[in-house]
Amino acid sequence: MKDASAQAEGAAPVSPQTFRDAMSHVAGAVHIVATARDGAPAGFTATAVAAVSDQPPMMLVCANADSETTATILETGNFSINTLAFEDAALAEIFAGRTGVRGAARFEAERWGVLATGAPALERALVTFDCRVVSAGVAATHRLIVGEVVAVREGLRRRALVYRERAFQGT
Ligand SMILES: Cc1cc2nc3c(=O)[nH]c(=O)nc-3n(C[C@H](O)[C@H](O)[C@H](O)COP(=O)(O)O)c2cc1C
Repeated sequence: MKDASAQAEGAAPVSPQTFRDAMSHVAGAVHIVATARDGAPAGFTATAVAAVSDQPPMMLVCANADSETTATILETGNFSINTLAFEDAALAEIFAGRTGVRGAARFEAERWGVLATGAPALERALVTFDCRVVSAGVAATHRLIVGEVVAVREGLRRRALVYRERAFQGT
């Protein structure tokens, strides 16, 4: 391939709005990414989560650098990924900051435990991945946080929560 940049090819650049519109067609599983520092939990709703490898097991979270939770994960060196069921859409709203609740207060609505690292593990999650940070790169506005999965807990089999067409749906 020669020069793959859109402008070099004469194509119109992709605006942030065009990109967001395009991404609205992509269904994403919805998770709560969480950590805790000195007993104070922090967490946010995330769809930019992916499995990286199984040997060793690793997961990637693309986390906004401005997020309070991102800063706390980078300090503690651990985080959990809690995959949500369809019935937990209200929890996704809370952890996305859409109800105005911030910080540790987001955790009051549900029961949380811990697995290996001490990061909060949502008891009613479909599955929880407990991770230790192994790298944290930078890409534009986000940190690419890769964690080694040191513990997992599988929950009850229920409909999964997905985000598509700017709405929460079940699958
Ligand atoms: C459906 C959905 C998916 C989201 N996915 C991500 C994500 O993958 N990464 C991210 O940094 N923020 C994501 N957000 C935004 C955060 O949840 C939101 O900014 C949150 O309030 C950050 O909280 P904090 O600043 O307390 O950490 C998403 C929001 C929604 C509604």
